[in-house]
Amino acid sequence: MAKTVTLKDDESGKSWKFPVLGGTTGPDVVDIRKFYAETDMFTYDPGYTSTGSCESKITFIDGDKGVLLHRGYPIEDLAEKCNFEEVAFLMLTGELPDAKAKKQFQHDITYHTMLHEQLHSFYSGFRRDAHPMAVMCGVVGALSAFYHDSLDINNPDHRKISSYRLIAKMPTIAAWAYKYSLGQPFIYPRNDLGYAENFLYMMFATPCEEYKVNPILAKAMDRILILHADHEQNASTSTVRLAGSSGANPFACIAAGIASLWGPAHGGANEAVLNMLKEIGDKKRIPEFVKRAKDKNDNFRLMGFGHRVYKNYDPRARIMAKTCSEVLSELKIKNNALLDIAVELERIALEDDYFIEKKLYPNVDFYSGIIFQAMGIPVTMFTALFALARTTGWIAQWREMIEDPQQKIGRPRQLYTGQTKRKFVPLAKR
Ligand code: CMC
Repeated sequence: MAKTVTLKDDESGKSWKFPVLGGTTGPDVVDIRKFYAETDMFTYDPGYTSTGSCESKITFIDGDKGVLLHRGYPIEDLAEKCNFEEVAFLMLTGELPDAKAKKQFQHDITYHTMLHEQLHSFYSGFRRDAHPMAVMCGVVGALSAFYHDSLDINNPDHRKISSYRLIAKMPTIAAWAYKYSLGQPFIYPRNDLGYAENFLYMMFATPCEEYKVNPILAKAMDRILILHADHEQNASTSTVRLAGSSGANPFACIAAGIASLWGPAHGGANEAVLNMLKEIGDKKRIPEFVKRAKDKNDNFRLMGFGHRVYKNYDPRARIMAKTCSEVLSELKIKNNALLDIAVELERIALEDDYFIEKKLYPNVDFYSGIIFQAMGIPVTMFTALFALARTTGWIAQWREMIEDPQQKIGRPRQLYTGQTKRKFVPLAKR
C-alpha cells in the first residue's frame, strides 16, 4: 500500500492525507504539492531546513554518516581515481566515460576554453582592485551577450554547447580576473594542457618566459576541483535552479549562482577561514576565539566549521586535509603557522562540548585556503576557484531541471505579517 501521512487540524477536527514518496536512498518526502489547494494553508520553512525542492539523480549526501556520492560513486573514489573532466562527464551524463568518451569530452572542453576577444575590453571596465568574484559575476553574465548561438534552452544541442562553454571558459575567466588585478597580460589557454593544469598555467605564466606547471600541484588542484564539483541543493545550486526555472539562459543562471556562492556562509567561507586563522595569529589565542564562537552575544563563528547537512565530519574536509599535507610537503613547507593553528583549532573545537553537542565539524573550506595559499593563490581568488569547480555541478543541475517534465517556475509562498489594507494618506497630511 502506498505510504501516506495524515495532517489533522486540532481546531476544526478536519484531516487531510498526503502521499509519501521514497527515493532510492535517504529520507522519504511528503508530497505537499496539493497542500494549499486542499487545506487553504501554506507550509512555512524559512531556510528550507525540511523542504525538498526538486527530484535529482546527481548527488546524494548522508549528513549523519558523512557520506557524499555523485551519481552513486563515493567522493573518496572519485577524488582518488578520476580526473576532473571524468567527474564533470559523470555529473552531466550520469555515467563515467570510457576511454574514447573521455578523450572526446576532454577535446570538446579544451576547444571551448578561449574567450571571445572582445571580452578583453570588458575586463578593463572593472577597477583593478575589484574582487575576482565581482568580475566573475559580471563576465559570466556577459557571456550571454557573446554566445547567442547557444541560448535556446529548449534545444538539447544548445544546452550541451552552453554547458561545455561554461565548464571550459570558467578557468580562463577566473585566471584573467587574477591577471587583471595584477596588471599583467592575459595568458591564453593551451590545448596541450589538462583542465587544472591549464588553469594554473593561465594564473601564473607570463609571456616573458617559459612556465612549467608543477605536476603535483596540478594533480592537487584537479582533486580540489573534484571535491567542490557539486553538493546537491545548496544555496548557490538552488539559486541556479530558481533563476533557470523562469527560462533564463544558462550563462545568466550561473552568474546568479556565483553571486550566491560569494557569501561567507557559503563559498566565501574559504576566504573567511584564512582571514580568521591570520587574525588568531597564534595558537595561544585559540581558546579566546573558541569562546567567542560559543558566545550567543557575539556574532563571530568559527569559519570552516559546521554544515547544514553534515552532522559528522565532512568527507571532503578529510581528503582536503590529506591533500594539504601532500602539497606542503611537495613545496617543502615544513612550518606553516596557519596550518599549525588550523590543526590545533580543529583539535580544541572537536573536544569542546559546544561543538560536540551541535555536531559542528570542519567542512570543505577549513583546509582548502591553506593549500591555495601555499600554491601562491591570493586569498581573494579562493571563492573564485570554488565557483570554477562548482560550475560543473550547477550546469548539470540546471540541465536536469530543464529536462524534468515536472519542472515549473519556482515560486515560494510567504507568511505575511505586514499591514493589512489601510487608507491612503496624502503627502500633506503625513
Ligand atoms: N561556529 C559557532 N557556532 C556555530 C557554527 C560555527 N561555525 N555553525 C553553527 N553554529 C551554531 C549556531 O550558532 C547554532 O547554534 P544555536 O542552535 O544555539 O542557535 C547551531 O550551531 C546551528 O547553526 P545554524 O546556523 O542554525 O545552522 P545552519 O545549518 O543554518 O548553518 C552554516 C550552516 C554552514 C551556515 C553554519 O554552520 C556556519 O555559519 N558555518 C560557518 C561558515 C562556513 O564554514 N560555511 C561553509 C559551509 S560548507 C561549504 C559551502 O556550503 O559552501
